[in-house]
Amino acid sequence: MKLIVTGSLGNIGRPLTASLVGAGHSVTVVSSSGERQAAIEKLGATAAIGSITDAAFLAETFNGADAVYVMIPLDFREPDLGAYMHRAAGAYVQALGATRIRRVVVLSGWAADLLKAENVEHLFDTLKTSLTILRPAAFYTNFYQSMDLIRGKGLTGKLLALRYNGLRALLTGKTGLLMGNYGGDDRVVFVSPKDIADAVAEELLLLPEGRAVRYLGSEEMTCNEAAGIIGAAIGKPWLRWVLLTDKQMLRGLKMAKMPEKLAKTLVEMQAVTHSGKPLENFRRANPKMGKVKLRDFAREFAMAYQQK
Ligand SMILES: NC(=O)c1ccc[n+]([C@@H]2O[C@H](COP(=O)([O-])OP(=O)(O)OC[C@H]3O[C@@H](n4cnc5c(N)ncnc54)[C@H](OP(=O)(O)O)[C@@H]3O)[C@@H](O)[C@H]2O)c1
Repeated sequence: MKLIVTGSLGNIGRPLTASLVGAGHSVTVVSSSGERQAAIEKLGATAAIGSITDAAFLAETFNGADAVYVMIPLDFREPDLGAYMHRAAGAYVQALGATRIRRVVVLSGWAADLLKAENVEHLFDTLKTSLTILRPAAFYTNFYQSMDLIRGKGLTGKLLALRYNGLRALLTGKTGLLMGNYGGDDRVVFVSPKDIADAVAEELLLLPEGRAVRYLGSEEMTCNEAAGIIGAAIGKPWLRWVLLTDKQMLRGLKMAKMPEKLAKTLVEMQAVTHSGKPLENFRRANPKMGKVKLRDFAREFAMAYQQK
């Protein structure tokens, strides 16, 4: 089949492309960077270089395809994430409609339907096509974004250790933590992008009628249990995940010079996870969990942690 993968060779795109090419499909990978072309071709796929916000480029790329995997990369350079998400989804819908693609698999998120401005799932409903919306939970790969916090280096690391772990921890070198306005003993489902790639590969080949929603997860646990698994893998068994209030989180993001609107959006996104509603919806849908567990990812994380 002729298949389109958006999201370049990212966390999902790379294993997805490898698996589809391995199964003998003709795969085109969309990337915004010409520098990615060689790596895409090395995997046996064709590169289409352009932006997912450019409807004409997308229509040219999708023309003649049997199925398209659609994702919108989060772009933190965009101060208004909601407006950007609508712009990108609008470009996709225009291109998918114009090329009459019969099968569309959209990557959304397990909290998307609970958000206001950033929810774009409904925009795809106008397509007269076989449509599956995937709602994956929290990615394991998010831990990479907290690498500096986990290291706990420098003055900030010491001050945070003193504040949240106490003087004894600071004096014995037990620095490093995770933090957010979901965390602590909140129960969360985590998911491996490799398990998501497996689900996308499976979905692209199906042709169900109308619209379906599928939740994706790999393992459920509390945030502190997750911190313990990551901590044990890197020699910091004391690692914990500090739960902040929304106000504390917003203040922290603003101190880090994040534009106010974007900071508020991120706080809203995390607050929804803290509310437990995405977990309720996930449990109601009761999907089969993926095969990659957090302990498997923690080994990969530890290698990156030791290298940098
Ligand atoms: N993190 C979570 O917990 C979570 C939870 C639920 C849902 N999600 C969804 O999952 C997505 C992340 O998936 P992922 O981890 O596979 O992505 P990823 O690793 O961040 O890769 C996305 C790739 O898309 C390409 N890209 C960026 N802007 C582009 C543009 N304007 N046009 C074309 N390509 C562009 C970039 O590669 P090039 O440099 O090659 O262009 C980028 O590396 C998020 O965006 C969110 O929608 C995330």
